[in-house]
Amino acid sequence: MITLITNIKELLQVRETSITKVSGAEMAVLPTIKNAFLILEYGLITDFGEMSALPKIKADKIIDATGRIVLPSWCDSHTHIVYAGNREQEFVDRINGFSYEEIANRGGGILNSAKKLNETTEEEIYNQSKIRLEEVMHLGTGAVEIKSGYGLTIEGELKMLRVIKKLAETYPITIKSTFLGAHAFPLHYKENKAGYIEEIITQMLPQIAQNKLADYVDIFCETGYFSVEETEKIMEAGIQHGLVPKIHVNQFNSIGGIQAGVKFKALSVDHLEIMNPEDIEALKDTETMPVALPSCSYFLSIPYTPAREMIKAGLPLALATDFNPGSTPSGNMNFVVATACIKMKMTPEEAINAATINGAYAMGLSESHGSITKGKKANLILTKPISSYYQIPYAFGSNLIESVFIDGKILV
Ligand code: NIG
Ligand code: FE
Repeated sequence: MITLITNIKELLQVRETSITKVSGAEMAVLPTIKNAFLILEYGLITDFGEMSALPKIKADKIIDATGRIVLPSWCDSHTHIVYAGNREQEFVDRINGFSYEEIANRGGGILNSAKKLNETTEEEIYNQSKIRLEEVMHLGTGAVEIKSGYGLTIEGELKMLRVIKKLAETYPITIKSTFLGAHAFPLHYKENKAGYIEEIITQMLPQIAQNKLADYVDIFCETGYFSVEETEKIMEAGIQHGLVPKIHVNQFNSIGGIQAGVKFKALSVDHLEIMNPEDIEALKDTETMPVALPSCSYFLSIPYTPAREMIKAGLPLALATDFNPGSTPSGNMNFVVATACIKMKMTPEEAINAATINGAYAMGLSESHGSITKGKKANLILTKPISSYYQIPYAFGSNLIESVFIDGKILV
């Protein structure tokens, strides 16, 4: 099946040679072709250019994109899409003055979701999660990472990872899987933290690795959750089982999680709401991608990742949703891009780079996703008629997507 898209008002994120990420001042550059064509063959991008250079081809399908913009689909490198139930009561409790930390301390938060998860059947968790996955696909996400971390028991964690695997096998979107057993300490281990870490290392990790249920290992490195020392221990064990670290750090406190992530060559360090100069310094000249989650900052009313300072320091930055029931019950990457521009003062070019090529990097997918490059997957967003790509962050509450392509096929 060959699809030809013609008269594209502007084709965004065109990269002739495949790059893996963009950093610092390069983030302000978004290469585009105006009045362009794009050819998709058997699920891949095979050619593109200016309309004046359109080759003679026999296409099975021709789409006239007059007035519309085409860009690579969003790469959402940090989500917790698989969960049971919701936490809407905690949302109202926060409106009434309780903080996220206070709610967690009285048994709510992650432990509340873990209770629900362990009480829900695998089939029901799958059915609830697939609705969210389908929703984000229609919102333009073409590759997504999904974490476990609401099981906190061997059975619960394996159950979540099997649901992620089934989603990956069932849906055409690219899915990467992350083991986040170290998301919180279960109640019965409250007085025996070493015991839970032992369970993660000696019970969970070997079974997960043996059944090839995860690509990455994650830890919530934070005061009241996992210390830097505990985080390092789990990263080390994960690496021994073939899992690359991708960790939660600096959400509420800067305690050295970034330095630990860099030391263990984490693919990404995510959240970064609280950053001091040493944290920024530690990320310089490393292969670790910093990932900001602005819709989490929005929903919890906590600080936003200091994107300007980080980009000025020459760092790359990726944007992701953090879709989860507690801190971000939304998987809308369009809103993330808009919020990054509005609240973090990223330019539209920087935000689009952060949500495409840099997001792909944070999932180890730069070779196949995140830009309009020959040979990459034909996962694309075709917008409605719009005046320019500035509309994407500017019209922040509107759905500007006309169609989404996954593997070269329009999602219905
Ligand atoms: O990334 N910070 C840790 N984990 C999630 C939230 C978990 C929850 O509240 O359920 C996050 O924000
Ligand atoms: Fe998260």
